[in-house]
Amino acid sequence: MGEPLLELRSATVDYRTSNGLVPAVRGVDLRIDAGQTVGLAGESGCGKSTLAMSVLRLLPRNAVLGGEVLLGGENVTDMTWGRLRAVRWAEASVVFQGAMHALNPVLRVGDQIAEPIRLHGKGSDVERRVGELLEQVGLPARRAKAYPHELSGGQRQRVMIAMALACSPGLIIADEPTTALDVMVQAQVLDLLKHLVDELDIGLLMISHDLSVLASTCQRLAVMYAGRIVEQGPAVEVLRNPAHPYTKALAAAFPTIGDASSRLAPRGLAGDPPDPSDLPSGCPFHPRCPSAMPECSGTDVLLRPVAEARTSACLLEVHL
Ligand SMILES: Nc1ncnc2c1ncn2[C@@H]1O[C@H](COP(=O)(O)OP(=O)(O)OP(=O)(O)O)[C@@H](O)[C@H]1O
Ligand SMILES: [Mg+2]
Repeated sequence: MGEPLLELRSATVDYRTSNGLVPAVRGVDLRIDAGQTVGLAGESGCGKSTLAMSVLRLLPRNAVLGGEVLLGGENVTDMTWGRLRAVRWAEASVVFQGAMHALNPVLRVGDQIAEPIRLHGKGSDVERRVGELLEQVGLPARRAKAYPHELSGGQRQRVMIAMALACSPGLIIADEPTTALDVMVQAQVLDLLKHLVDELDIGLLMISHDLSVLASTCQRLAVMYAGRIVEQGPAVEVLRNPAHPYTKALAAAFPTIGDASSRLAPRGLAGDPPDPSDLPSGCPFHPRCPSAMPECSGTDVLLRPVAEARTSACLLEVHL
């Protein structure tokens, strides 16, 4: 196997705050190979966006990144700002949560898509390339002249995807790309992403709190809780037969797309996720875990293999 597109080795991110350090990402190992799609799931605050932003060092100033984040084998923590500018858009790009805020309201969308292309000096006929990109994401090329407010939420998210594709990166990181959209448009944008990563053979790290969204888009799934990955494996198997009690609860809490009978109140996920600056001892999920045992509060549980290509961080015996 060649060099992974992205490899995180014991990656950590701490936020410096007036109340001390907030450990948002606490030792994550994750690997994405060329053309591979990986979904990252977990409740609000578990560190998904922080992890995503660490890949291109887009973290806020009060963040401290530790461990290794290797992009095409190169550690982003060692990159100069010049080198970072060169790899952003060209090797990896990010589609953020909520396109409304990510687009500049006073610039035509075509000019915004053209920006990374010009920045990287790619292609002489930028206008043609912008039209091509718009068509690739299912918008007519003439929409290049539109301002963001003239487009619907779904169309704006397509513009964001076009922008992410502009310099033909090997990896796209999509942070909740469909959360702000209604269910129909969400399905269309997901289909588009899936189709594009297949067609262009791009690696994808897709973030969502909704496991069913990830399972329909990604080959592998990583489930995050309190800054750590607690389960990882092939997406369909993890969703069908979760090993970790947290994955089970998360799968039960979000209804399957299109399954009206499961559209009830969240089940199996009582209580709130822990405050990262005040984590419970042992397994951080133990206070909410329906299967907790006395030893769970005293043991720091690490990921271990539970089946072929599957790992889980739980003391329970699992039979998959
Ligand atoms: N700039 C910051 N300064 C201090 N703490 C922060 C900062 N940004 C995020 N945090 C904290 O880090 C933790 C992880 O936040 P993050 O945004 O990565 O979570 P998330 O999983 O993406 O959540 P969501 O699903 O709501 O987007 C949270 O506890 C959050 O409060
Ligand atoms: Mg987030």
